[in-house]
Amino acid sequence: MQAPPTIDTRALRRALGCFPTGVTIVTTLGADGAFVGLTVNSFNSLSLDPPLILWSLSTHSTSLRAFESAEHFAVNILADDQAAISRRFALRGPNKFHEVAVHAGLGGVPLIEGCAAYIECRAHSSMPAGDHVLFVGRVERVRTSGRAPLVYIGGRYHGAGIELA
Ligand SMILES: Cc1cc2nc3c(=O)[nH]c(=O)nc-3n(C[C@H](O)[C@H](O)[C@H](O)COP(=O)(O)O)c2cc1C
Repeated sequence: MQAPPTIDTRALRRALGCFPTGVTIVTTLGADGAFVGLTVNSFNSLSLDPPLILWSLSTHSTSLRAFESAEHFAVNILADDQAAISRRFALRGPNKFHEVAVHAGLGGVPLIEGCAAYIECRAHSSMPAGDHVLFVGRVERVRTSGRAPLVYIGGRYHGAGIELA
């Protein structure tokens, strides 16, 4: 059997950066009751019936254990004025929620105020995939706010068609 071709990581990142995504903060409640969350753009729709969504989490994430044992998690789809929140939740470790306004969702999972939409899920399944773990959630509640979404392309944030740097 032929060995798989070696792919240059920088070239792969550059190509993936040509695919515009939204930006989400995926949140859950840790076993100790602490709020857990990180910036995620691997989120996507998976199935309408049953309603399923997916996202992937790096095996290096400090949040891995919390999501592996979580019964519920929420996808907070950021609005176009929330690039600063995206940057904050892309930092490693705890204390990201300091002075971030939240309210409690299903299972006590924190929902970040001011987002474009909220997708609240019950953990459905997970699967190791390379250096990430793929999480599938069954959607239990959704809400949209009418705010325009934040967009991420090639490592930069955009809102309403304007580059936010
Ligand atoms: C726009 C953007 C999207 C990201 N998407 C993901 C993702 O889908 N999965 C992931 O594991 N990390 C993603 N990250 C990186 C994490 O947010 C980052 O590694 C964070 O520090 C993880 O925090 P933790 O180790 O406390 O969980 C993304 C970062 C940015 C800026």
